[in-house]
Amino acid sequence: MKPEDLVGPNPKKGGGKPSKDEKSSPAKKRGATEHASSPKNKGPAKVIAFANQKGGVAKTTTALNLAVAFKESGHRVLAVDMDPQGNLTMSQGVDPDKVDKSMFDVLVHRIPISEVIVEREIDVAVASIDLAGAEIAMSTQIGRERALQKGLDEVRDDYDFVCIDTPPSLGLLTVNALTAADKVIVPVQCEYLSMRGLVQLQNTLQMIRENLNPGVEIEGILPTMLDARTVHAKEAVEILEENFGELVFKSRIRKAIKFAEAPVRGTSVIKYDPKSSAAGAYRDLAEEVLTHGS
Ligand SMILES: Nc1ncnc2c1ncn2[C@@H]1O[C@H](COP(=O)(O)OP(=O)(O)OP(=O)(O)O)[C@@H](O)[C@H]1O
Ligand SMILES: [Mg+2]
Repeated sequence: MKPEDLVGPNPKKGGGKPSKDEKSSPAKKRGATEHASSPKNKGPAKVIAFANQKGGVAKTTTALNLAVAFKESGHRVLAVDMDPQGNLTMSQGVDPDKVDKSMFDVLVHRIPISEVIVEREIDVAVASIDLAGAEIAMSTQIGRERALQKGLDEVRDDYDFVCIDTPPSLGLLTVNALTAADKVIVPVQCEYLSMRGLVQLQNTLQMIRENLNPGVEIEGILPTMLDARTVHAKEAVEILEENFGELVFKSRIRKAIKFAEAPVRGTSVIKYDPKSSAAGAYRDLAEEVLTHGS
């Protein structure tokens, strides 16, 4: 396998003119009372990045629905949108073109992350199209790879899980996410070609471990958009298991039209159709991650 299907960042949306119609809600103000019964993990949040440089493999869908499943099981959850496309932000009904401040300001101007968090199904640190310029704006900063890690320090104790959605590239935004993360979940579409990029992702992770974040590990590789009726999909999962063994989650996410419908309504699948098998699949994944330990 050769790591050659790197996909570049693909930000493309109209210019964002900031106007303040989304209320910022410092995470610190919540905490104990609102979530009194919840925390099973004490202490600082476990930070999970969702990464795969291949586009359209369900990074955002997984980051959001797993975050909501964690919340449903009583945990305090922050989702961080590190993708200039702003899909996670939109999936929670927030227009990235209308946010006053976004992760761009956290990374580039080092404003407190609590100023860009809005409360939806889960708390979301929002993205805007500006984020497309963050890599260049940060390129001369000392410590640019650690901007997100530093930003999260403020809220680390307010959450049990921080779920970071990344863009389809291995650029500085993704490097920031991998540097801030304890674990990485890698959604993989069940086609052979989409698996080849995993080697490159592993190489990048190795570089991050050597230079920036020695402890970061792959939590699991998640087969997504599985059409279980096709032989090809079954073979693809088998190849994945042969190559990555125990790293492949037991959970499988099947293809379902609900996954495309829910974001249009600005909700997770878990809220859109709580009883569906699509929602159940992400609850199962949450259970698998929770029982996997630490
Ligand atoms: N299990 C599924 N079945 C059917 N459609 C799905 C499934 N999971 C995600 N989708 C849809 O596929 C599209 C791509 O998913 P998503 O945006 O989560 O991928 P992504 O990896 O975040 O993409 P990008 O690389 O552009 O950020 C979306 O329209 C989403 O609604
Ligand atoms: Mg995405």
